[in-house]
Amino acid sequence: MTALWVFGVFLMFLFRASALTAPVIMTNPAEVSNMTSATLSCNLTDPPSAVKGHYWTKNGEVIKATKVDTSATYTEYNLPKIDTKSGGEYACVFLSTPEVKQTIEVKTPPHVSADKHSEHGDEGEKGTLVCVSHSYPLPTDWKWYAVQGENGEKLAIVNGTDRYEIQSTPNNSTLYIHDLDIEKDMGYYMCYGESDLGSHSDKIHLRVRSRLAALWPFLGIVAEVIVLITIIFIYEKRRKPDEVNDDDDSGSAPLKSNSATNHKDKNVRQRNSN
Ligand SMILES: *[C@@H]1O[C@H](CO)[C@@H](O)[C@H](O)[C@H]1NC(C)=O
Ligand SMILES: *[C@@H]1O[C@H](CO)[C@@H](O)[C@H](O)[C@H]1NC(C)=O
Ligand SMILES: *[C@@H]1O[C@H](CO)[C@@H](O)[C@H](O)[C@H]1NC(C)=O
Ligand SMILES: *[C@@H]1O[C@H](CO)[C@@H](O)[C@H](O)[C@H]1NC(C)=O
Ligand SMILES: *[C@@H]1O[C@H](CO)[C@@H](O)[C@H](O)[C@H]1NC(C)=O
Repeated sequence: MTALWVFGVFLMFLFRASALTAPVIMTNPAEVSNMTSATLSCNLTDPPSAVKGHYWTKNGEVIKATKVDTSATYTEYNLPKIDTKSGGEYACVFLSTPEVKQTIEVKTPPHVSADKHSEHGDEGEKGTLVCVSHSYPLPTDWKWYAVQGENGEKLAIVNGTDRYEIQSTPNNSTLYIHDLDIEKDMGYYMCYGESDLGSHSDKIHLRVRSRLAALWPFLGIVAEVIVLITIIFIYEKRRKPDEVNDDDDSGSAPLKSNSATNHKDKNVRQRNSN
């Protein structure tokens, strides 16, 4: 009984071991990092069944042009020029039963870009500046700087100090500036995405609108109303002496106010006839 049990465990161990060792896909290189070009290759040994074909994927999506029906157990994928867009997880897939695949990471230095290169906020409100990254791998660290004056000196922004708040995920980083100040906060900001492979930055311009700016449309209306009231008031004042004069005598009134005066008189006549 014990012997059978030991044998069973032994069999299981053998099965597990074989499952772990075969099949084997040798990749070359094992990983691509900070290179300008590369040829990815996969060499399948001990396929689990006959191979009917193979293809490559990038970030889980099939690269259609690489799909071939062949029993070959070796495949290459050429990346003649590696830039930010080339980065990602590549994998070769062999069509055996079951399918087998192996991943090769293609890593590029970080690439970041401002969500909007020009931002604005109202004085006293919260300013929001956003930078995003799509490179592979994503930045491991984000940093923000305020660009000072015309010499362009960069001042590191520390989270939690002086009205600043930074919220970062691998994808993106957001700089909040609380209680915006026209004098202090207007200007350029830079976000940096950093990883082992390097660092990259982008620039955002922040405009701060004065509190008054929001009032301008309202002030405009108020000014318009004041002007209208003044004009009406002046007309009313002028009309009174006219009324004292004979209506037919209007020809002698100053030319400037002639038509307006006649207009008013017409109104007066109409009102009188009612
Ligand atoms: C694939 O691997 C086998 C076993 O290591 C080796 O003999 C063969 O030359 C390799 N094929 C290529 C195309 O590198
Ligand atoms: C900045 O500080 C806030 C509040 O303490 C915190 O929630 C946030 O995670 C910090 N951001 C970074 C990038 O450390
Ligand atoms: C952020 O990155 C994660 C993981 O890469 C991804 O699933 C998610 O969609 C991204 N979010 C945005 C807003 O880009
Ligand atoms: C930043 O990324 C997180 C997840 O990584 C996502 O939920 C959020 O919407 C993103 N924010 C912006 C502004 O893209
Ligand atoms: C990446 O490559 C560039 C030039 O090709 C080089 O200047 C830089 O030092 C490299 N970075 C790393 C982390 O190897």
